[in-house]
Amino acid sequence: MMADVRRPCAWLLLLLGALIFTFSGLLASRALGDHSERHGARSHKSHRAHGGRPAVPRAVESIVGGAGASIARFPFQVALYNPRAGSPSVGFFCGGVIIDATHVATAAHCIATGSHGRTGALEEIEVLAGSSTLTPTDPGSVRDAVAGASFDPNYEPSTSDFDVGLLTLARPLWAGATPPSVNGIDTIAPLPVDAALAASYSDPQAEQTVLATVSGWGDLNPAPTSGPSYPAGLQSAQVPLVTEGLCAENYAAIEQTITPRMICAGNSRRRTDSCYGDSGGPLVVDSDSPADPPQDYVLVGLVDFGNGCAQPGYPGVYTRIGNPEVAGFLNSGSAHRARLAGRQSRKKRRRHR
Ligand code: ARG
Repeated sequence: MMADVRRPCAWLLLLLGALIFTFSGLLASRALGDHSERHGARSHKSHRAHGGRPAVPRAVESIVGGAGASIARFPFQVALYNPRAGSPSVGFFCGGVIIDATHVATAAHCIATGSHGRTGALEEIEVLAGSSTLTPTDPGSVRDAVAGASFDPNYEPSTSDFDVGLLTLARPLWAGATPPSVNGIDTIAPLPVDAALAASYSDPQAEQTVLATVSGWGDLNPAPTSGPSYPAGLQSAQVPLVTEGLCAENYAAIEQTITPRMICAGNSRRRTDSCYGDSGGPLVVDSDSPADPPQDYVLVGLVDFGNGCAQPGYPGVYTRIGNPEVAGFLNSGSAHRARLAGRQSRKKRRRHR
């Protein structure tokens, strides 16, 4: 008898308990979500992913506010990947820019290991050119090994200053004077580094809105509640350049100095930005209006870092090609290049911001 009376009571209690548990769990996870979003946004710069991919999701959004893009529009864009991972999509870790038949510009942090002056093992870096998708790769695309890698001797990992690197390819991407075309379309082409030209399109003080374009295969979904999501296909987004003064003011809030080697771009209102995995890739300005890319593009930056992605008040930060030292490293660092090219690190890890 007693037991019969108690049983429904116990069930009721259990049900009530379950309800309370679920409800408090919901509240807790919301709070945790909020916390990790803020935390992730602050700490992402010190986050390091190993084996080429960001390991933990951080902050909000993607090559945010972007759309799928054809490599024919960005034929200078390459993907850097670790061939040991098995495929470009699995080994993908950064972007890069073809600057001539044998050289690819990228961010120093894409290829540097912990100690200064060292790059990761060259066998762990390969370049995919001429493909819109990382998997399967497009017909006519080229995978090239890397014979040399170096970065600016002034590169400072703690501040991201001088975050510029250079890869020397094992084989030229094209043999003749001009790159090959596939069905009359150039899918592999250089974007020369011209500091003066870049500077004329990216005056650090200029207040008028200059619309730049960023591209890459970077993270589409670094939301704190779900894992990172990498697109197979190239994405691009339009990001207005932000003045040096405003950007410095923005980043002062998190004690990040914006140096003359940096240029900022992003649209907090429409929330367009680059994100994790886009690093080393191109930020370009169309030199002509109406736009006739890719011939009209001028390289003004390389994806570098941000405070999370597409966070209001924090534009993306890029390595400034209009800075003569940055462009000088890319264009005339041959002696230094050769010296570092032979130096291979035993360390397998690469930094990834
Ligand atoms: N450091 C990232 C990378 O290695 C790029 C982050 C860019 N962030 C941004 N908010 N624009 O791919």
